[in-house]
Amino acid sequence: MLASLSREIIRKKRDGQELSQSDINSFVSGIVSGHVSDSQIAAFCMAVFLNRFNLDECVLLTQAMAHSGQVINWQEEGINAPVIDKHSTGGVGDKVSLILAPILAACEVYVPMISGRGLGHTGGTLDKMTAIPGYNVQPSLSDFKAIVKQVGCAIIGQTGDIAPADKRIYAVRDVTATVSTKDLITPSILSKKMAAGLTGLVMDVKWGNGAFMQTVDEAIELAKAIGKVANNGGLPTTAVITDMNQVLGHSAGNAVEVRESIEFLTGTYRDSRLLEITIALCSHMLLLSNPNLSPAEAEKTVRITLDNGKAAEKFATMVKALGGPGDIMDNYDTYLPKAAIIKPVLAPADGFITGMKTRDIGLAVIELGGGRIRSEDEIDYAVGISHILPLGTAVKKSDPLLTLHAKNDEDWQAINTTLLSCIAIGENPVDIAPVVHSVLLPDTL
Ligand code: URA
Repeated sequence: MLASLSREIIRKKRDGQELSQSDINSFVSGIVSGHVSDSQIAAFCMAVFLNRFNLDECVLLTQAMAHSGQVINWQEEGINAPVIDKHSTGGVGDKVSLILAPILAACEVYVPMISGRGLGHTGGTLDKMTAIPGYNVQPSLSDFKAIVKQVGCAIIGQTGDIAPADKRIYAVRDVTATVSTKDLITPSILSKKMAAGLTGLVMDVKWGNGAFMQTVDEAIELAKAIGKVANNGGLPTTAVITDMNQVLGHSAGNAVEVRESIEFLTGTYRDSRLLEITIALCSHMLLLSNPNLSPAEAEKTVRITLDNGKAAEKFATMVKALGGPGDIMDNYDTYLPKAAIIKPVLAPADGFITGMKTRDIGLAVIELGGGRIRSEDEIDYAVGISHILPLGTAVKKSDPLLTLHAKNDEDWQAINTTLLSCIAIGENPVDIAPVVHSVLLPDTL
């Protein structure tokens, strides 16, 4: 691609003009071939940030990025069944993917889940799976396809073959203050989903003090932006708007969330809000996979699959197929790393839990070493919090509010103080937001 052509495309967007399909395709193929430089990507992203894309341009960029590498064709792999995934906009304690992928696989829906690392204060599914000793989050594309075909689901990290244009664009956005625009976030998320060969997608769009979107209205706006591009780009998508004003489930961290997920799958303990959101997301994935199902039938199928142990079996098979221990469900306690100091944080007064600074709790997990401040940072998979009491719980002074897992006493003391400042205790109970706020079906997006 000629350098002057990329310059002309940047100029058009700089001047607020609409880009054509051929402009967008040339620019993206120049990114993959290396003919477009990082400075040109930066200028392009800033021009889009300032002058925006219309729906057509957003769909075209998404499709061009999706086709910038391999696009998986599951039929060619011998899979003639629905292939559906879920994407969450990120939260604290969001371990739904670990539970949902095996549930759907047990319902004969294929889930090729390409997940990300932690972003900002939110945890990443990829980091959680890495806490399982031996589990390979970076298999080759052919091993990934084979495992999805054999097991029904596989949770892995981004591979170089899928949407490589996004990798370059994202790295440039990260250092040029051009991440936070829906016009670039949407193609970035959806190109990877389209390249994964999905036949349907459910978006979990979170709102609240632990989400990127602070209000329900902002979450709905983002859901509509992503949903419109996905549905116009040929990927049927449902969006579920969910609450993130408290930690989801009882834990936040890596090994602690794997432990909670395993105990959830085996039925040892199921947090009621985590159960509700899991059932809602799984049911909508089933509804996308089979339009003849009623919502009540979909929900019943999900509940049965959880209760009869089939989902737990699928999780075990997936972990083994990706190199983890074959007996993870029985012996997770011996395999998952444990922190040196595990002690409860105590309630400072009698009352009700009336609020959580959820984002700050996510940041406290990073401070413990459970997430990254810089992208090259190593993670301590053992640290985190568990057994956090949900909003609305009545407590007495000195009752445990949560259990804090730290690598040493000094960290435990520091984060104990932080966490106490994150949890409000009041004299009277307060209204608590429902975990599922609303659902936007493909025809309403
Ligand atoms: N996640 C992505 O994959 N891309 C973005 O731009 C933001 C979140």
